[in-house]
Amino acid sequence: MLKRFKDGYRKLADVVSKTVPKDGHFPTLKGHPAADQHAEQVLETHETLKEKGLKKTLKKEFQIYRWSPDNPHQRPFLQSYFVDLSTCGPMVLDALQKIKGEDDSSLSYRRSCREGICGSCAMNINGTNTVACLKPINADTSRATVITPLPHMYVIKDLVVDLTNFYHQYKVIEPWLKTKKPPLDGREYRQSIAERKRLDGLYECILCACCSTSCPSYWWNPEEFHGPAALLHAYRWISDSRDDYTEERLQALTEDHTRLYRCRTIKNCTATCPKSLNPANAINKMKTRHLLSQPVEETEEREQHAIGQA
Ligand code: SF4
Ligand code: SF4
Ligand code: FES
Repeated sequence: MLKRFKDGYRKLADVVSKTVPKDGHFPTLKGHPAADQHAEQVLETHETLKEKGLKKTLKKEFQIYRWSPDNPHQRPFLQSYFVDLSTCGPMVLDALQKIKGEDDSSLSYRRSCREGICGSCAMNINGTNTVACLKPINADTSRATVITPLPHMYVIKDLVVDLTNFYHQYKVIEPWLKTKKPPLDGREYRQSIAERKRLDGLYECILCACCSTSCPSYWWNPEEFHGPAALLHAYRWISDSRDDYTEERLQALTEDHTRLYRCRTIKNCTATCPKSLNPANAINKMKTRHLLSQPVEETEEREQHAIGQA
């Protein structure tokens, strides 16, 4: 009896595992437009490979930015690699792993989790900043995929950039819970469900730096302007009902005109975020909160200053 049940279960599992999801139905990705779009693209690639790949090898060209500190006088260049898509995973990071493993072990890039959690594999793919492990390979073999480091950053080697300033800015916003007194019952600091919900869309940031390095204001003022990633985190702690330093945090961001107010609401940050977060909105909310707390004359003076700096 048990054996018949197990056999039946195996047969059913077999059928289910062979079922490819029909286009556009990914309930688990609800509320994550970027992930939803990526899943659609992977399905498209899968279909293309099914149609063409079984008949012949599908070689896709990847042009990858190369520069090594071992040859400091050699100018950076794009090196072409050809990857057989029928023996490669679906994401750009899979192609990089294949190139490094099979063609050229000297190629350098960062990666760790391969599932959009660690933020290590951020790079520019065909002109857009994103994380390579969440970016599906475009199966159109008539065009090369061009991969370069995150823009306007110092390159350490190939696709690896120096993130020292970026992490310093994250440190400056003091990304931890700061309280003035212990909880009344001596236990943990608690939140209601509604208070916790206010952190949705903020806590998910993986510090990949795609947003900050796509922001023109950050390109021109990388040291003074905190950039959208650090500011999103600042707003995450300002929004936390358990934190007692909301005003001080806002004061630290606004005591000069550069840290927060260099944002010109261009929204490149929001457009590029691979986790579908909205740093521009978080920045706007902090500006509004700050402006509403100011006397009218100071607000006007700040606006004049901002116009003068634009
Ligand atoms: S909205 Fe602000 S932070 Fe975002 S890209 Fe534009 S200027 Fe930069
Ligand atoms: S807001 Fe988005 S793009 Fe910016 S660091 Fe966080 S996850 Fe990356
Ligand atoms: S490897 Fe961790 S986000 Fe891509």
